[in-house]
Amino acid sequence: MSLFIKKPLSQLLAQASDSSHGLKRTLSAGNLIALGIGAIIGAGLFVRTAAAAGEHAGPAVTLSFIFAAIGCAFAGLCYAEFASMIPVAGSAYTYAYVTMGEFVAWAIGWALVLEYALGAATVSIAWSEFLNKLLGGSIPYEWCHSPFQKALIGGEMHHGIMNAPALVVLLLLSLLLIKGTQESAIVNSIIVIIKVAIVVVFIWVGWEFINPANHSPYFIPADAKPALLPDGRYYSYESIWDHGLLGVIAGAGVVFFAFIGFDAISTAAQETKNPKRDMPIGILGSLVICTILYILFSYVLTGVAPYTDFMLQGKEASVAYAIDTYMHGYGWLSTMVSIAILAGFSSVILVMLMGQSRVFYSMSMDGLLPKVFAELHPTFRTPYKSNMLLFVFVGLIATLLPGDITGDLTSIGTLFAFVLVCLGILVMRKSDPTAERGFKTPWVPFVPIMGIVVCSTMIVGLDTITQIVAGGWLLIGIVIYFLYSKKNSVLRRK
Ligand code: ALA
Repeated sequence: MSLFIKKPLSQLLAQASDSSHGLKRTLSAGNLIALGIGAIIGAGLFVRTAAAAGEHAGPAVTLSFIFAAIGCAFAGLCYAEFASMIPVAGSAYTYAYVTMGEFVAWAIGWALVLEYALGAATVSIAWSEFLNKLLGGSIPYEWCHSPFQKALIGGEMHHGIMNAPALVVLLLLSLLLIKGTQESAIVNSIIVIIKVAIVVVFIWVGWEFINPANHSPYFIPADAKPALLPDGRYYSYESIWDHGLLGVIAGAGVVFFAFIGFDAISTAAQETKNPKRDMPIGILGSLVICTILYILFSYVLTGVAPYTDFMLQGKEASVAYAIDTYMHGYGWLSTMVSIAILAGFSSVILVMLMGQSRVFYSMSMDGLLPKVFAELHPTFRTPYKSNMLLFVFVGLIATLLPGDITGDLTSIGTLFAFVLVCLGILVMRKSDPTAERGFKTPWVPFVPIMGIVVCSTMIVGLDTITQIVAGGWLLIGIVIYFLYSKKNSVLRRK
């Protein structure tokens, strides 16, 4: 039987409407927008804005955000059509099953592990770093770093044992997810209000402190003076990806991470009260709100501090650094920002963990993964076993691996999914032109084609190691598909 066997749309819709046995429908459009913002605003904004400005784009990082937002908007419009049409938990994985067949669906599902599971691990490591900063570095180095990390502190070499705070936050959030989607949504909404408020206050207060000299020249010039690094070396801007317009594109690849998460909303389609109407509102609404905040935020941050500062210090804690150094009298804001970041990271982890368990739920229902991933808790009706297994998997990554590189792997997995979802819209418009769609992507084929072009450009802009590791991950997935999933596929057995 063909590798590209497709799941009939009618079968999926029947599955989605069976709400008496499946996941509970509790979420409204407002919950979805909050869920989106919960997953979107996090390490990408608070950490990567400074990194992208310092290394590639300078003050023009604002344009990097706009470029990345355009790619996400194209993909978001395609997601919105699918999510309103096929309101099933699996998101991109499910859309591919209907349009491009089982093998492509499996590949997307597998790539989504990079996005959600690795994304959750990456952000939990950043969470641990921030907690330690907030506590004045009082957690012993050994217990908040991976065994692969070491540092010379006070003349003595310290080796990491495990990242315990990362494990703790993952455990707490996994337990919350098991308790219930609605409970998780309430906690998420509270966090979202806090973090959006802090971002707005920073923009508002910081505006007064913008020094126009920091915005000029707007692009990093080709002959920019090398920037001093913390270890005494210099960072040269000679590479074509580190100045001018191409620097803006490379910066977009870095800040793309900041947008990841709006697609996670679509994994909650089966738990939404009125998915046809609310899914597009949730996906596009959260994307628009975050894009506006990001553009203003990056404009203010690069206006308050010169971009070269971020190479020397404050990359991780860039916002607090900019406030402490250039916004005198606002020390309280810097502490508030750190607290908001901790809360903000928690909601990112929460939605990522939820997204991952819902994708696995769908894959397991289809027989491509073991049944345990679809077993629901008798009372809470959440996939509790999956949540527990994911806690072990994500926890192992977060406690034992360092946080660098994993962020870019998250981006590449997501971009891959975006490209295939855009492709899926083109296929679906041909194969099922009359199927009912709560929302229709405008300007087809322009929007999906542009989504494919912009997201592929960002994949090309990511570094080679990330591309190779992601390729390796995909190969492992293909082996598992042939050894397990193909044989156990429910669709094939029928
Ligand atoms: N968009 C999420 C973040 O920036 C993944 O942390």
